[in-house]
Amino acid sequence: MGDGARTVVDDRMTAQVVIRFAQGDDLARVVEIERASFADPWTLTAFRSALEEERLNFLVATSGDAVLGYAVSWCVVDEAELANLGVVPAMRGQHVGAALLDRAMGDARIAGCTIMHLEVRESNTAARALYESRGFGMVGRRRRYYRHPVEDALILRARLDR
Ligand SMILES: CC(C)(COP(=O)(O)OP(=O)(O)OC[C@H]1O[C@@H](n2cnc3c(N)ncnc32)[C@H](O)[C@@H]1OP(=O)(O)O)[C@@H](O)C(=O)NCCC(=O)NCCS
Repeated sequence: MGDGARTVVDDRMTAQVVIRFAQGDDLARVVEIERASFADPWTLTAFRSALEEERLNFLVATSGDAVLGYAVSWCVVDEAELANLGVVPAMRGQHVGAALLDRAMGDARIAGCTIMHLEVRESNTAARALYESRGFGMVGRRRRYYRHPVEDALILRARLDR
């Protein structure tokens, strides 16, 4: 399939979820989810740039016509970065985030990356638990990295070649 679509079968999901590459039509919904998820959200322009940048892996999780979540990552030489991940609040806890992260990690591995980095708010226990479940461990801290409210970022890293 040209849009990179893969169906995720997970008995904890209530609906069949497809992970595919994002398209222009998805952006308005992605921005809505982003605004519901972050105090300092990416703008529509930022997501549009991500879509236009071919080296970025911009994924969406969909069920029928509904966009449930998204992930933005990239792979440079052998190191990948997860830059953004969000799931619509009403669908959290149903393994949509895990499916997006698994796909982003798998795509980065296929692209030749051996590690993935990301940053997460120290207080973001849901995201930290998700990342820990996928093998991420803390390798650093950026003090006062986030705004609204000001908070440290933890730098996490996972190996992709295991
Ligand atoms: C973080 C986020 C993407 C997780 O997505 P999700 O679809 O709700 O998470 P999943 O259902 O895939 O959870 C996978 C695993 O993560 C952990 N987890 C997820 N949410 C959790 C919570 N609220 N509390 C504790 N652990 C949690 C669990 O280990 C879970 O596995 P389990 O259900 O088998 O126990 C979602 O909460 C979100 O969009 N948050 C706001 C945006 C955000 O913080 N993005 C990350 C920025 S770094």
